Amino acid sequence: MKLELKGITKRFGSLVANDHIDLVVEPGQVHCLLGENGAGKSTLMNVLYGLYDPSDGEILVDGKPVVFKGPGDAMAAGIGMVHQHFMLIPVFTVAENVALGNEATKAAGFLNLDETRRRISEISKQYGFHVDPDALVEDLPVGVQQRVEIIKALVRDAEVLILDEPTAVLTPQETDELLDIIRQLKAAGKSIVFISHKLREVKEISDIITVIRRGKVVGSADPSASLRNSPRRWLAARSV
Ligand SMILES: Nc1ncnc2c1ncn2[C@@H]1O[C@H](COP(=O)(O)OP(=O)(O)OP(=O)(O)O)[C@@H](O)[C@H]1O
Ligand SMILES: [Mg+2]
Repeated sequence: MKLELKGITKRFGSLVANDHIDLVVEPGQVHCLLGENGAGKSTLMNVLYGLYDPSDGEILVDGKPVVFKGPGDAMAAGIGMVHQHFMLIPVFTVAENVALGNEATKAAGFLNLDETRRRISEISKQYGFHVDPDALVEDLPVGVQQRVEIIKALVRDAEVLILDEPTAVLTPQETDELLDIIRQLKAAGKSIVFISHKLREVKEISDIITVIRRGKVVGSADPSASLRNSPRRWLAARSV
């Protein structure tokens, strides 16, 4: 699925958090968003996920304009998001967390946990997640909790996955595991929007990089070209 943001602007009162941002996410592509604190990255993703109404601009899915009135609309269009702070309920099991709020696993108002467990095992096997559907979320390391969030999106058939600073909470080893997972998702044709401050990860994983500064796109690059040779210089030139 191809995703386009055109002229997205988001104002909070007099503050312009996003200022006419254009962004294209191609199918099977890892698109990295770079920018300092407060640059407007999460705001842009919240607009894309239907959490915020854009003040201006439009979103296109496979070339057709769409309007998301909430995350439910974004999910129905194939967009999933893992927030900076996870949205899991610690005292519930993995399967209960995944089943919650998912219409497809509800039967007559009840959570269909057997079907959810089956889907979790299937996805877990496909991508090497090693997640036990019956584990309590509070007993899981942060890296595994994050995979539960990713599974939540995949169970809902997400084609585009937004990961908002996913490595901020991870150990170096967990980060490497996540990068492997991202490679597998990409190989399966999913698109990833990956937000990060860390150059190493960005270089390692991204197909394209967009740099945002004070709400505006200030640069974009294919890391295999200019960035591979001199990422620091490239980024320094854009004051990242
Ligand atoms: N709900 C809101 N109401 C008012 N201002 C907001 C709101 N959300 C974000 N902002 C402001 O919009 C600007 C962009 O914030 P945003 O969270 O999008 O940045 P970010 O690039 O994700 O930063 P970080 O790296 O810290 O996560 C900031 O100045 C922030 O204070
Ligand atoms: Mg943010």
